[in-house]
Amino acid sequence: MLKKVFFRKNTEMKQSMSKNDLDLGKLPQHVGIIMDGNGRWATGKGLIRTSGHKAGANTVKSILNTCIKLNIPVLTVYAFSTENWKRPISEVNFLMSLFSSFLAAQIDELSENNVRIKFIGRIDELPNNLAKEFHRAEDITKNNTGVKFNVAINYGGRDEIITAVKNIAQQVKDGSLSVEQIDDKIFEDNLYTQNLPPVDLMIRTSGDMRLSNFLLWQSAYAEFWFTKTNWPDFTPEEFIEALIDFQHRDRRFGGLDNK
Ligand code: IPE
Ligand code: IPE
Ligand code: MG
Repeated sequence: MLKKVFFRKNTEMKQSMSKNDLDLGKLPQHVGIIMDGNGRWATGKGLIRTSGHKAGANTVKSILNTCIKLNIPVLTVYAFSTENWKRPISEVNFLMSLFSSFLAAQIDELSENNVRIKFIGRIDELPNNLAKEFHRAEDITKNNTGVKFNVAINYGGRDEIITAVKNIAQQVKDGSLSVEQIDDKIFEDNLYTQNLPPVDLMIRTSGDMRLSNFLLWQSAYAEFWFTKTNWPDFTPEEFIEALIDFQHRDRRFGGLDNK
């Protein structure tokens, strides 16, 4: 039944995009998105910055829905960095309550759509009620087998790597791991993204071309796609443009061809 629905959705999607030549068999396995430009979107309209965050939440919904329809296995979005605490307390508080209300409004639909949600970052250092709500949502969706939707909150790539190094060092100290055993796999087992494929496509909206401490290890061989569009204005059509562009990249991984 579920399969049928997905098939129909895929077919509809395929028809509406056929002119763009999206190859549904060649989709990225993991898409990362740096959702930037909410503030600029708002100030450009003479609004307060926080209204940009509110509008940005709707974009999250529409891009996640596109991933569901296309069957993209993993989507990881950057919602709040370890550096974002530098912002005015009023903006930080607004974002924290937005995360909470967004999750409460979306959790049933996420479950219905077979999405598995996970929050990555220093979640247990967030206000207690928020950490609890996040863990609850992870628990509710933990057996879902569709899109793996990771939301990075209080996340920093350097922090993630240092935490992994500390865990591994502790295991060596305890004698449960030898220095010789440390390899990519062991390292990845100590990241938030353990058992997930590396990022194939990294998108950043709003014109800046930097990683801002997002998924540093996981994007080692990612293809990058930048747009000047601010996050609240980013549409499924533009997302599909990024996917098509990705499909035309020559990914050599250090070799001479992409075989
Ligand atoms: C991205 O939009 C959202 C967060 C970082 C939480 P910004 O708030 O960074 O928007 P700009 O970059 O100031 O326009
Ligand atoms: C990156 O955006 C973080 C998120 C999108 C959550 P920022 O707006 O914080 O990045 P910088 O400060 O421009 O590098
Ligand atoms: Mg920004």
